[in-house]
Amino acid sequence: MAENLIISTATDKAARYEALIPQIEALTTGEPDLMANLANIAAALKQTMNFFWVGFYLVKKMNWFRTFSGPIACTRITMGKGVCGASWKEKQVLVVPDVDEFRGHIACSSDSKSEIVLPAFKNNEVVLVLDVDSDKLNDFDKIDEKHLTQLVGIIERML
Ligand code: SME
Repeated sequence: MAENLIISTATDKAARYEALIPQIEALTTGEPDLMANLANIAAALKQTMNFFWVGFYLVKKMNWFRTFSGPIACTRITMGKGVCGASWKEKQVLVVPDVDEFRGHIACSSDSKSEIVLPAFKNNEVVLVLDVDSDKLNDFDKIDEKHLTQLVGIIERML
């Protein structure tokens, strides 16, 4: 396992994702512990892409439990609640350019301004969501969606 991330200094975020994702694969290959891998992935994404908060909410009965990197946040979210719960219920990626405009958004921090949530599936059921928050409005676009979807694909192979 690599001990240090090589962080691209490219200003182009696609290039930063392209440098990061193979390192995440290397970091997690051979490690069977899902939570250990998710914790490292959250830390790597936050550190490399300079997001405000990165975490995973995992389906446990009807609630969520999570591992994350960033300021403290809510521990449990029920299906349909907030952006994460909506992504779980609707089984789709949600990009929220302005969290104040999303009805039912759960504000863990007033510094969070925009958000992207991607579900990961096993046997067609949502097993967890990747939640990424930014302290800038409208910070997520198709480039983030494409590369984070690729990352979720790597995570799905661990499930
Ligand atoms: N904003 C999320 C809650 C989790 S925090 O952003 C870390 C939501 O509405 O589901």
